[in-house]
Amino acid sequence: MAGLIRWRDADSKKVLGLDDGSVVRLIGWIFTKRVHGNKVFYMLRDRYGYVQLVADKDRLGEKFSYALDVPVESAVAVEGVVKRDPRAPGGVEIHLNNIDVVAGADVWPITPSVAKSPETMFDLRHLTIRGPRSRATLLARSALVQAAWEYFTSNDYVFITAPTFITSAVEGGATLFELKYFDRKAYLTQSSQFYEEAAICVFEKVFVIQPSFRAEKSRTRKHLTEFLHIEAEVAFADHEDIMDIEEELLKYIVARMDELAGKEIEYVRGSRLPDLDSRFERISYDEALDILQSKGVSIEWGEDFGADEERILSMEFENPFFVYGFPTETRSFYHMDDPNRPGVTLSSDLMAPEGYGEITSGGQRIHDYKYLVSKIKRMGLNPEDYGWYIDIRRYGMPPHSGFGMGVERVLRWLLRLPHVRDATLFPRTPTRLYP
Ligand code: 4AD
Ligand code: MG
Repeated sequence: MAGLIRWRDADSKKVLGLDDGSVVRLIGWIFTKRVHGNKVFYMLRDRYGYVQLVADKDRLGEKFSYALDVPVESAVAVEGVVKRDPRAPGGVEIHLNNIDVVAGADVWPITPSVAKSPETMFDLRHLTIRGPRSRATLLARSALVQAAWEYFTSNDYVFITAPTFITSAVEGGATLFELKYFDRKAYLTQSSQFYEEAAICVFEKVFVIQPSFRAEKSRTRKHLTEFLHIEAEVAFADHEDIMDIEEELLKYIVARMDELAGKEIEYVRGSRLPDLDSRFERISYDEALDILQSKGVSIEWGEDFGADEERILSMEFENPFFVYGFPTETRSFYHMDDPNRPGVTLSSDLMAPEGYGEITSGGQRIHDYKYLVSKIKRMGLNPEDYGWYIDIRRYGMPPHSGFGMGVERVLRWLLRLPHVRDATLFPRTPTRLYP
């Protein structure tokens, strides 16, 4: 179990010392309970961690029978004396002078046999998130987003938000969720990129942290239908610049997560986070293809990587690495083509190693009006669907680049989670819309 309750006085919220013999009052939830003759041992859980409580008949007197009846997962307020005891988890326990139930609990439904069924555990996600693994995972997720926020704001990026209801695809029509918007058709956004591109003409550097939606039927371990998207867009930046930024951001996130949630991460991952000091390798799509073909994968130039290709390729790496120069056909229309190599875009994916695969996609955008219109037509799309997006190109749009990073993908890799659905509070997948 990760961490020990940070000793806080229930009234003043001040952090208390761990002094032997001091009296503390704590609030939290009864995580576990064991009865041993005239003693009850509880594990109390709060925002900071866990601590053992001891209810002793001699000490509690008449209140002991009340203490015996406190159900697991009740919210309680307790007062007791701190005793150092090397046998207790964390080396201390609280010998109770009093215990009061603030909010009682019914019989806890998560039994060991329930815990064996992942689907049932997700049906009961509103309760199972209280377990130590989800708790630690979600604290690590919060640290990841905090770190990203710190990175951007300390580097002069402006935080913006973009609409969720939109009228046309960013990343291709196949994964658009359609919905009724009064008497019109609308979609859920796949990416805030186009709105960021409008905003860079005001702020130069912008970022968003908000959900994106994909009607992604593929049942892989890396696809959600709703995920948290960290995206950034930078004016006057080229493709090389944006790879540098992605690398710097990921290095900052990993180092800062270790500071903010190192113990929780170690609990879930089984080890500390990797040291990302060395420069991330940058291999071309062609080089990636060579590696895949040498591993017996049948893939031709021009094809996109699927989940299997990414897994096989990233197994060959111990550090995150970029694959750059994806063929035009594999990328959305907004990508700038490499002026030195027709048919190849100025784009890249940042891949997590050890089989995890893509965690970001980014690249340089087309900033020229005529070039964008002709590419939209060339890719069989209708320029009218992209009116305002094209229009920005008529009014001083500089060269610019950006990227998007999936929070659950990064967390899955860093915590070695079996599935991206473990990396979010209430996951949404093709088969899961509840709770
Ligand atoms: O590669 P994607 O589709 O790129 C874009 O959306 C760009 N418009 C982003 C940009 O340049 N501003 O998505 C970006 C990242 C992926 O690398 C992945 O980490 C994550 O978003 N992602 C998903 N995560 C979970 N489930 C899904 N279905 C995801 N689709 C994308
Ligand atoms: Mg991508």
